Amino acid sequence: MPKKITKKRTGASQRLSAKKISSIAVITPGGDAPGMNTAIRAVVRTATYHGLKVWGVERGWYGLINGLVKEMGPKSVSGIINKGGTILHTRRTPEFNEKQNRKMAYNELRLRQIDAMVVIGGDGSMKSAYRFMKEFGVPVNVIPASIDNDIPGTDFTIGFDTAVNTALEAIDKIRDTATSHERLFVVEVMGRHNGFIALDVGLSAGAEAILIPEVPYDLDQIARDIRAGQERGKESFILVVAEGCGNVYKIADKLKDKLNIEVRVTNLGYVQRGGTPSSLSRELACKLGAVAVESLVNGLYGNLIGAISDRVVLFPIDKISKTKKQIDMEHLRIATMLAS
Ligand code: F6P
Repeated sequence: MPKKITKKRTGASQRLSAKKISSIAVITPGGDAPGMNTAIRAVVRTATYHGLKVWGVERGWYGLINGLVKEMGPKSVSGIINKGGTILHTRRTPEFNEKQNRKMAYNELRLRQIDAMVVIGGDGSMKSAYRFMKEFGVPVNVIPASIDNDIPGTDFTIGFDTAVNTALEAIDKIRDTATSHERLFVVEVMGRHNGFIALDVGLSAGAEAILIPEVPYDLDQIARDIRAGQERGKESFILVVAEGCGNVYKIADKLKDKLNIEVRVTNLGYVQRGGTPSSLSRELACKLGAVAVESLVNGLYGNLIGAISDRVVLFPIDKISKTKKQIDMEHLRIATMLAS
């Protein structure tokens, strides 16, 4: 059973003074992640409970710039706790980098007398939200939701656990066919800039090697390890490669040239972004969603609402947005040791 999450504040977060909020908007910019809908539900229901009016922004920052904003209530989030994706839809919005567009977005908030925002998203969304808050004085709290798990200030992002389980289930199946044919499979998982998914999946799947962008790799050494494994009687080999490590087909071709083994490639791709959120992703979404709103009600904003060692923690975004979440190298060491 997961432990009970209690709330803790770290560092100096900002506090609203006299004016109490009466209306909030919720938005899911950036890549979708399983559990975002669970978080939207938590935000809408908590806000309603505290007597706030809630607005949902459709299609991320693009929707805020263009006024795609609708009123939401408890009924509009019925039946979504277990649905992947985001009912608000999302869209990559590079135009939000232009100040004139952010001003238009701010005007849309003012038009509807929206006092504060809850942003549900990844690292990029957090940084955009913070810039928006600083520029226009809109109180914002951010809920970390991304399959990448690349946000500091929280052990896990909403969606990461689901994505890892989806990838793991696929790799377990790949192992069956790899063993039957005594092949090497090179499996690409998501993660443009980091190897959190690759590392967790690789460790749990018993991958023979894990390639992540944070650590330089040596294909000659990997080939030597595979040869040594063949000599010990290993029947199959799985190399888990994070998206950010380069072209997976080229990696496979190079290994094929070095080894006497059949090589196949599977790119797990977008299957990792969809599906029913796991219990961990949902639990996190419910708790972080509730605290994100209640913090605004209590005048606390400018925070990333995360969970560290099962405790909900508020981190001021200005502190964590300059830091980079670090890979736990111990996990890689253990995975490498166990694969031999
Ligand atoms: O940030 C989540 C993520 O799924 C990354 O792992 C991946 O590199 C990226 O989004 C893909 O983004 P898009 O669907 O916009 O191309």
